[in-house]
Amino acid sequence: MELARRVRHLSPSLTLALDSKAKAMRAQGVDIVNFASGEPDFDTPEHIKAAAMGALDAGFTKYTPPGGIPELRRAISEKLKADNGLDYSPEQIVVTAGAKQACLNVLLAVVEPEDEVIIPSPYWVSYPEMVKLAGGEPVLVPTRRENGYKITPEEFADHMTPRTRLIILNSPHNPTGSLYSEKELQALAQLAAEEEILILSDEIYEKLVYDGRKAPSVAALGSLFYELCFTVNGFSKAYAMTGWRLGYVAAPRWAAEAIESIQSHTSSHATSFAQRGALAAYKGPQDCVAEMVAELDRRRQRMMQWLNKMDGLTYVPPHGAFYIFADITALGLDSRSFCEQLLEREHVVAVPGIVFGEDSSVRLSYATTLEEIDRGMERVARFVASLH
Ligand SMILES: Cc1ncc(COP(=O)(O)O)c(C=O)c1O
Repeated sequence: MELARRVRHLSPSLTLALDSKAKAMRAQGVDIVNFASGEPDFDTPEHIKAAAMGALDAGFTKYTPPGGIPELRRAISEKLKADNGLDYSPEQIVVTAGAKQACLNVLLAVVEPEDEVIIPSPYWVSYPEMVKLAGGEPVLVPTRRENGYKITPEEFADHMTPRTRLIILNSPHNPTGSLYSEKELQALAQLAAEEEILILSDEIYEKLVYDGRKAPSVAALGSLFYELCFTVNGFSKAYAMTGWRLGYVAAPRWAAEAIESIQSHTSSHATSFAQRGALAAYKGPQDCVAEMVAELDRRRQRMMQWLNKMDGLTYVPPHGAFYIFADITALGLDSRSFCEQLLEREHVVAVPGIVFGEDSSVRLSYATTLEEIDRGMERVARFVASLH
């Protein structure tokens, strides 16, 4: 028996697999420190949980419209206007089961077989696989450390062909924590507009930014870009709601209906009572986000302090998300061997950069407590010292 061609070269999500392995080892009593997590360790704020529980109690358990409940689409539309300077009507917004499904819906809506999709590398693990699922061809464009792992207009132009359909931009960035400036995004979007290349702007880490910075939205930088751009965002990271599976895409008018149709024939819609929780997230107090960001910032500083003391590990200071992408070139190990040995010898879990397309680095997540960071980084320091 043979599987369909579209899944023959599909790889499972290694980051999710690693995280599960760490959780399983811990459940067996192994003293694990987990720096592989892709989710905040905070609990979902109480008022959000209460809204979802209230919805359940009130029997809000039936099908909703495929694009989401009208009040949530309205709240997202208002949020995009207030926070991002974006004008999307509620009909242009499709609520999805996580930002991940939002990305896939976009790709399914616009990618034709053999279309090329440009993905700056290192990249979030799911992008190339989702492009393949949609029948397209991922074109991985290596970025440079000197540029903070951000793709330049020249690198973008060098990889364009007549088949280029879309570029995926992600800022703040997983796995490097890099953050594009308005000027950098504008230059990339300008080039895309000249060549009529679409943009998927994955802004899931938008709220998790440090040093007084702000994450600009590509579609807000010009009306030309707005027509080409799909803005993806969600509730997972900013409101510690990863398990709720709630995200959304805001699309130009010409594509919004098709995206909603895809959703109507696949998952139908995001979970009814979870949508009420998302509504509370956007309508309720925002100090929970500020508190979480302040705490993540303390952890970011602490992890950087540890790394600064280690010989042979270097990194570009991250300005967003909750990852540090540490370069291990000087240590003479590839990223998989580094992570395997680190787990075996010190019981610390890190993600090998190879899963993000960059074998010279490992990803350390600081979405864990300061105590865990101290405990784990002490072990990483001992391990790194042993490699000299
Ligand atoms: C860059 C990026 N985009 C999207 C997602 C998916 O978010 P969600 O959990 O809302 O599907 C993640 C999750 O790790 C991510 O890192």
